[in-house]
Amino acid sequence: MASREQFSSKTGFVMAAAGSAIGLGNIWGFPTQTASNGGAAFVMMYFLLAFCLAYPALMAELVIGRHARANIVTALRHVAPSKPTRFLGTFIGVYGVIVASLILAFYGIVAGWMMTYLGASITDLFQWNEASQWLTSFGFTRNIIAMGIFMVLTIAIIASGIQGGIERWSTRLMPMLMLILVALILYVLTQDGAKEGLKVYLIPDFSQIKPSLILDAMGQAFFSLSLGVGTMLVYGSYLSDKEDLPKLGAIVTLTDSGIAFIAGLLIIPAIYVAQAHGTSIFSESGTLIAGPDLIFQVLPSLFNSMGGIGPYVALAFFILMTIASLTSSISMLEVPVSLASEETNATRRQATWLIGGVIFVCSALILLNFELLFTLVIDFTTVYSQPLLGVLLCVFVGWIWHRNSLLNALKAGSPHLEQSLFWKIWPVYVKFFCPLLILATFIQSIIG
Ligand code: PFF
Repeated sequence: MASREQFSSKTGFVMAAAGSAIGLGNIWGFPTQTASNGGAAFVMMYFLLAFCLAYPALMAELVIGRHARANIVTALRHVAPSKPTRFLGTFIGVYGVIVASLILAFYGIVAGWMMTYLGASITDLFQWNEASQWLTSFGFTRNIIAMGIFMVLTIAIIASGIQGGIERWSTRLMPMLMLILVALILYVLTQDGAKEGLKVYLIPDFSQIKPSLILDAMGQAFFSLSLGVGTMLVYGSYLSDKEDLPKLGAIVTLTDSGIAFIAGLLIIPAIYVAQAHGTSIFSESGTLIAGPDLIFQVLPSLFNSMGGIGPYVALAFFILMTIASLTSSISMLEVPVSLASEETNATRRQATWLIGGVIFVCSALILLNFELLFTLVIDFTTVYSQPLLGVLLCVFVGWIWHRNSLLNALKAGSPHLEQSLFWKIWPVYVKFFCPLLILATFIQSIIG
């Protein structure tokens, strides 16, 4: 068997994993959930859950992946000690692969929209009004072309492998993303109305903390850290045994939450700047506009009202969104591709194009039945499946995998781990606390 590729360095891994984590979930999802869930109260709950729940779950994925050095299905079968548990491993793995692929199917559609608005900010610069009009109007042809182009970019990167594809593009794109984000924040914060937005973002209203808020914050944390579906597991499988897993996991969690927080400093003030420029920011029911209308109506009308600099700000913003989407979408595609290329005779390139093609067809079906399927697929994958898979993976690590083998796998690369708090807490925590907390949040939200 050809030797398995690995990331060339710690930085390569951190860029790739942070690239997966940082996406539309951070720059769009987090700020808008915050704005519609009572501002800073949501932010605090989110941070609590990101570190106390999502980080331990992330560690579970990384440690399985690095130990088994395989895709999610093979890895879970590898650590399972008996026939029934191997069967369970296959079930969880296949469920994860399906969910990762379905997430890509809807994510590719949304990323396609980011690209059409990116295109429109260029056509605006040249005053090609008809082209801008077409690019910003919702229609099947526009949607499918944009999604198709985005899928081809995702496929091209994944077909080039770990170092030549994922690592190379994540290390190029992530610094660009951060630069654009900071430049945009500095600009928006100097505009009228920004202060009002900062207040909403940073002053908590604790009366807003209710079960539905906790479920939203949990779903958001799992989505943002790309958990449950095997993305982090497979990225962990390309990491050397010499690296300190708990530390790298903590860096990824911190970077992801940090960028979400920083993105809030852009989006929420921008909403109020738009209001200061005369755009209505409340829907008919009196709540703040949060969904697609925010990104595709409120912000563009803000950019339009900015005069000559507007199209450039719009360009920077939609490049930011496209980069964020691409470094995440490649990680989703890696989940089924790693399974197919490791478990069949197909080459990586063949597997990537074939699976990318199937996911393209799924996206096309969603576009054809948009009203029915779009939110259904999002809810099935992100609200329910990701946390549920998170529980199953914690159970796998805490209850099924042989404890000594788990602890040895955890220790590799961290010579002083046995003296740390992490060592004392995590194995028990992931066994009892994580699955129970996730389940309790679920049940709470169902019984209201
Ligand atoms: N973490 C990504 C975001 O915040 O946009 C979304 C994501 C990536 C979800 C990869 C799931 C996944 F496997």
